[in-house]
Amino acid sequence: MKVLVTGGAGYIGSHTCVLLLEAGHTVTVIDNLCNSSAIALARVQELAGRPLRFLQGDIRSRTDLSGAFEGGVDAVIHFAALKAVGESCDEPLRYFDTNIGGTIALMQAMETAGVSKLVFSSSATVYGQPDSVPVNEGAPLRVTNPYGRTKLVMEQLIQDWCAARPELSAVLLRYFNPVGAHPSGRIGEDPRGEPNNLMPCVAQVAVGHRSHLRVFGDDYATPDGTGIRDYLHVMDLAQAHLKALEYVGLHNGCEIFNLGAGHGHSVIELVRAFESASGRNIPMEIMKRRSGDVAELTADPSHANVRLGWSAERDLSMACADAWRWQKANPLGFTPDPE
Ligand code: NAD
Ligand code: WQD
Repeated sequence: MKVLVTGGAGYIGSHTCVLLLEAGHTVTVIDNLCNSSAIALARVQELAGRPLRFLQGDIRSRTDLSGAFEGGVDAVIHFAALKAVGESCDEPLRYFDTNIGGTIALMQAMETAGVSKLVFSSSATVYGQPDSVPVNEGAPLRVTNPYGRTKLVMEQLIQDWCAARPELSAVLLRYFNPVGAHPSGRIGEDPRGEPNNLMPCVAQVAVGHRSHLRVFGDDYATPDGTGIRDYLHVMDLAQAHLKALEYVGLHNGCEIFNLGAGHGHSVIELVRAFESASGRNIPMEIMKRRSGDVAELTADPSHANVRLGWSAERDLSMACADAWRWQKANPLGFTPDPE
C-alpha cells in the first residue's frame, strides 16, 4: 500500500514506519518536526534498509497536505498531534487548532484526493476516571482536560464523516501507555524539555540526567499504593497499526479498538523492572498525588485481540531493556552520528 503517515517522525510514528517499510509498504511522512527530529527518520530508513519520502510540513496547511498526497495514497495513518496534558490546560487553543483543525484539514485533503482509509491515534485519556477496570470500548467517555477533549472530538468528527460517506473506512485506536523503544536502540522516545510520562523520567534518572524520580502518590487503593497503568511496548503498538491497515482494507465504517496489554503495573513495579534492566539504582521521592491522575487504568483489549488479530507480545522487562538500550546509547536524544 501507499501509506501517508502524519507525525511519522515522532515516537510512535517512527517505530511504525520501520514496520511499514519492512512489510513492503511505500511510505510518505508529513511532519513539521515541532516535537521530533529528522534524524529519527534517517534511522528509520537505516533500520528498514529502504527509503521513505519525507515532507517537512504542517497538517493544517492545505498546500503542504496536497504535496503529501501527490503520487497517490491508499491509506492514511494519522499520528500528528500535540499530546502534553498539562500544556493543553495552559494553551487549549493551540491544542484545538493543531489537533482538531489539523484533523479537519486532513479529512478534507483525503476527500479531495479520493482517499477512503484512515487509521487514527486516539488515547485511553478519553475514558477519564473509569467506573471499573479493565475498560472496554463501551465504557463511558469522560475527558478531564483539553488534550483529552481534542481526542474525543476528533473521534466524533471521524465517526460523523464515516456516517456520511459509506465508502470510508476508519479505525480509531485508543492507546494505553506506550513505552520502550526499537530493540536496536537506534530510535526511541526523545521528549523535548521535561518528560511528562513515567518511563522517560525513569530512564533519565538511570542515565544520570536527574537525581531521582518523583512518585506522584503512594496512597492509592492499589497493592503498593502507587498508580497502576497498562504499559504497552511501542513495537507491539507499531504492529497493531499494520493490523489496522489490513482491517481498513477489508471493512467499511468506523471501528474503535483499545490497544493495551490487558494488565497493569504500578509505578514501583516499573521502577524495579527498570533497575533490573539497567543495573542502575533509581532513587524515589514520594510526592503528593498529581492532579487528574486515577488509581488504576488498564485496557480490556479483547476486541483488538479478536477482530484485529493483534495482542501485545512483549512484557515490561523487554520494554525497560529496550528503553535503556536507547537511552544509554543516546543520552541526549537524537543527535547526529559521528562520521
Ligand atoms: P510525538 O509528539 O512523538 O509525535 C507526534 C508527531 O506529530 C511529532 O513528530 C510532531 O512533530 C508532529 N506534529 C505535531 N503537530 C504537527 C502538525 N501541525 N503538522 C505536522 N506534524 C505535526 O507523539 P507520539 O507519542 O508519537 O504520539 C503520536 C500520537 O499518539 C499522538 O496523536 C498522540 O496524541 C497519540 N497518543 C500518544 C500516547 C503516548 O503516551 N505517547 C498515548 C496515547 C495517544
Ligand atoms: C503513569 C503513572 C503517574 C511521572 C498519560 C496521558 C495519557 C496518555 C498516556 C496521551 C501515573 C506516575 C508519572 C512521574 C510518577 N497520553 N508518574 N512520576 O498519566 O497514565 O497517561 O500518558 O494520550 O493521555 O495522561 O501516564 O506516564 O504520565 O503516568 O509517579 O514523574 O506514573 O502518577 O500513575 P498517564 P504517565
